[in-house]
Amino acid sequence: SPSSSLNEKSVLITAGPTREAIDPVRYISNHSSGKMGIALADIAAARGARVTLVLGPTNLRPSDPAVQVMPVTTALEMYEAAETAHAQSDVAIFTAAVADYRPENPSLAKIKKKEAHLHLSLIKNPDIAGALGKKKTTRQIHVGFALETDEGYRSAEGKLASKNFDFIVLNSLLDPEAGFQKDTNQVTFFSGNEKSEKTPVLKKDELASLILDRVEARIRETEAD
Ligand code: C5P
Repeated sequence: SPSSSLNEKSVLITAGPTREAIDPVRYISNHSSGKMGIALADIAAARGARVTLVLGPTNLRPSDPAVQVMPVTTALEMYEAAETAHAQSDVAIFTAAVADYRPENPSLAKIKKKEAHLHLSLIKNPDIAGALGKKKTTRQIHVGFALETDEGYRSAEGKLASKNFDFIVLNSLLDPEAGFQKDTNQVTFFSGNEKSEKTPVLKKDELASLILDRVEARIRETEAD
């Protein structure tokens, strides 16, 4: 809609899990469904944004055909796609649950069962939000997520600074309605100068609207400078 501060803005969203090959038939991944990023993509598009959704393996898709979906499988592929889109983006929202590590030398043949122990050597994946945070200009707005198994305020503040986010959305797995595969979420927002009250339990599309309201407020701040 023309009255939205997101109207005609370019928005990059990373979403879903990544999948890291162990051999041709097996992989390392996680329980991310991509729902949060898909909800953000649909609502940003409804507010007039041009949305690029870099989406790891999931069967879910946005309902708005105007969202440009770039399907990827691995963290390295997600990094490449996100880096390309980032150059043209006004806003980047990092919801993806990127695998922190990948098998260092994926086997070309299926690994056979042998001894009682099998050792896999893992190597760190790129931190997509961290790397793009270093390239961020003063006109670009970055939003991150943190999922913690404790209250996690300290680590959320650490990530806000180290990844150069404008604000971060903290999910605590302590909250029974939050997290993976759920349709509801309860979060706390952190920015450099503010920590919000914990939100009530919200549906993911209600939370997406709240997040985008904060993005719009931030756009108005940066445009006023
Ligand atoms: O460090 P941690 O994984 O908790 O940080 C979470 C935030 O960083 C999320 O916004 C996530 O999408 C992003 N991230 C990323 N690339 C990674 C790891 C996390 O973009 N390799």
